[in-house]
This record gives sequence, C-alpha cells and structure tokens, in this order.
Amino acid sequence: MLFRDRAFISLESIASTNNYAAKLLKVSNPPDGTVITAQEQTQGKGQRGSQWFSEAGQNLLCSIVCYPKFLPVRQQFYLSKSVSLAVAEMLEEYLELPALIKWPNDIIVQEKKIAGLLLEFNWMETRIQSAVCGIGLNINQATFEYPHATSVFLASGKKADIDECLSRLVKSFDKHYLQLQSGFYSDIDNAYRSRLFRLNTPSTFVFRGEKISAVIRGVDESGKLLVLPEGSRLQVCDLKDISMVY
Ligand code: BTN
Repeated sequence: MLFRDRAFISLESIASTNNYAAKLLKVSNPPDGTVITAQEQTQGKGQRGSQWFSEAGQNLLCSIVCYPKFLPVRQQFYLSKSVSLAVAEMLEEYLELPALIKWPNDIIVQEKKIAGLLLEFNWMETRIQSAVCGIGLNINQATFEYPHATSVFLASGKKADIDECLSRLVKSFDKHYLQLQSGFYSDIDNAYRSRLFRLNTPSTFVFRGEKISAVIRGVDESGKLLVLPEGSRLQVCDLKDISMVY
C-alpha cells in the first residue's frame, strides 16, 4: 500500500491548511500522504499571493503532504499535473461532472472554475524534499462574488457529501501519485493534454501586456504553456507571461 501510515487531520477553523502542513513539516515528519482538512480557513491562500475564499462548512479545503523525492527537479510540474488529474477524474467519475484543466491547475466545469490548487515545495539543495498539495474544491456553496466560479451544487443542482468527495479524491490522488512514482510520465501527459481547457481552440490572451488571439498547443515537460499567437511563431510561456481572457 502506497501511504500505509497516512494520517487524517480534521480541523474546525485554521488560517490555511497549507500553512498548517508547512508548520507540521518544520516540527515533525508527518507520514507520507497525510491529509489535512478544515471546515473553514481564515486566511486561505490562492495562486500568486491571492486569497482563497470559501464559505465555512460548504466546500472541500485540504492539503496533502507527500515526499516526492523521486521526482527530478525539472519534472516538478508533474506533481501538479497528477493532482489536477485526481481532482478532475473524481469530479467526473463520482459526481458525473465532465471536468477540464485550465493551465496550469484550475479545474473547470461548464466553463467555470470549480477548484484551484496550490502546490508548495520544500527543497534541499537541488532535490525536492517534500510537497504540500493544497486543494480548494467548491462543493455546496451556492453564491460566489467571482462570476467565473462554480460549485458541484451550482453545476449539478445537487448537494454532495464533502467527506465522501474527500475520500474519493484521496483515492484518485493515490492512483496518480503511484503513476508518477512509477515514472509513467507519458500516461500523465496524455491524460493532462486530453483535459486541457481550450486546447487547439482560438482564444484571447493577455501576452506580455498585450491582448492577442492565439491557440494553446500544449504544455512542455517543465510545465510551460505552448502558445501559437496568430501570425507569429510558437511561444513558450510561464505564468508571468500569459493569462487567458475568458
Ligand atoms: C488558486 O488560486 O486557484 C489556488 C487555491 C488553493 C486553495 C486551497 S484551499 C486548501 C489549501 N490551503 C490554502 O490556503 N490554499 C489551498
């Protein structure tokens, strides 16, 4: 069994499950695969320094601690791919909601964001020592300030059991983590590519400060987005270069 000694830590209210996990890693060696959940976060963290808002008790807020020491540094993005796939597959297989991945790791249902990931790595020299995979998945929340946000409830019209979603998500994570550990990179690539939001579809982006029309061609090994702007040559982009307007 992959995560034989995994622990589950269930919290009522915490600043951020990712920060809780990071502190735990500083003072102890939490078992591989440890899952930390909270009903409420008072300072939930999103990508690029943003905040993650979630109504108390309505959604899945969790952080999974793992030690992907086997992962070469240049393949760090594969952990992110694996977690994205785990969330998307859980949504599709358990909740029957077809899910896509908006690069780098937003999960999209019915053209709206249903989940976001925040992966944080700890390094020792050039090796990954540990990682905290933070997942915020909107489940039963019925209203959002952000117009592009949705939840399982809004997308399906049905409330879902958050604990059951967690248990399915953890199973799905384990499957993909095992795939990663076994070095099945091309399987992960193919699955990620097949779920890539707006792949080969002309879309509008802000690229280095300018609004352009372009087509996503894929994601490279290091996790950079391959984009073909109209009338130009292929560009290799990271998050600071490009954002999709949708
Ligand atoms: C995003 O901006 O899309 C990433 C959101 C990640 C939110 C989750 S909720 C659980 C974990 N703890 C945090 O503070 N953030 C992540």
